[in-house]
Amino acid sequence: MNRIIPIKFEDGRLWLLDQRNLPFESKYLEIDSVDKVYDAIRDMVVRGAPAIGVTAAYGMVLSAMECQSDCCSDILTKMKKDGEHLKKARPTAVNLSWAIDMMNEKAAVLKIKDPLLFKWDILGEAVKIHEEDVITNRKIGENTLKVLGSKRRILTHCNAGILATTSYGTATAGFYVGKEKGIGFKVFADETRPRLQGARLTAYELFENGIDVTVISDNAAAHMMATGEIEAVITGCDRVAANGDTANKIGTLSVAISASYFGIPLYIACPLSTVDFSLHTGKDIPIEERDHSEVEFILGKRIMPEGIKVRNPAFDVTPAEKITAIITEKGVVYPPFKENLRKISLT
Ligand code: MRU
Repeated sequence: MNRIIPIKFEDGRLWLLDQRNLPFESKYLEIDSVDKVYDAIRDMVVRGAPAIGVTAAYGMVLSAMECQSDCCSDILTKMKKDGEHLKKARPTAVNLSWAIDMMNEKAAVLKIKDPLLFKWDILGEAVKIHEEDVITNRKIGENTLKVLGSKRRILTHCNAGILATTSYGTATAGFYVGKEKGIGFKVFADETRPRLQGARLTAYELFENGIDVTVISDNAAAHMMATGEIEAVITGCDRVAANGDTANKIGTLSVAISASYFGIPLYIACPLSTVDFSLHTGKDIPIEERDHSEVEFILGKRIMPEGIKVRNPAFDVTPAEKITAIITEKGVVYPPFKENLRKISLT
């Protein structure tokens, strides 16, 4: 189970499984500077909200290691500056700034005079964020099984799996934990244009781990619901506003509207670190607009004449009223989300 490892930190170097080449090539990129971390996140070598967060935490370790000064406060100043830069790599997933802020906060309270020890402790904090994500994934999986009851035919969108996290994923965690317990799911994966994370990543990792997965085109989702083939939808998310409005991969909103029309429950699976209590509603969530080439080309082949106008918003916001429940590591949150998200975060 779980033979895929998206992020490794070994011998002072970060290694990222290059997700741009999956499923055709499984190759790790060596990342030895904070600038390379920025590029890897921006270019989507690594992607998915929790995975970006863990990567950024190691990016902060590299930032500290690069500092040649003997003075811990110089290292802190460099980390702050590099952290602000890293946050700009991708704007929508809040886990990126969450992890950077965590690292800076921890660094600020470490009162060690020896810079070498200080750097070791910084690494320890990144490892902690990494290990906590593994535990969180597992708990989300257990909670998903509870919420799904006897439902087995599940649609997911984009990739909120092993490749988007550090172990079982969020949306996929229930499938993996279920498999360990002898519970079999039939998963439908939207292909997820423009970058095809559903077909290239979700289908790949589920298939590799022996989970029954069927890829459908994004356009087929409503039809599959109409014909009774889907009992529930589970997606991950990049940021949840305080009122429960949720940003996730572009197309999630269409899936949510269809699910609501057909009376199919829509669950969002995410760690509580993805909830941004500083934003009142989803209107405040920054939506990344990516390069038009992602729409113009599929796997390097141009699919439309040159010069045609293209738009490429990478995320959309599903209003809270279309969400049945939010599955977190601490439990399942039902509406009213504003009240119940706050309550669970304080437990
Ligand atoms: O653009 P991506 O591939 O980073 O988008 C990823 C998603 O939208 C995921 O569903 C989300 O980050 C949740 S990952 C557990």
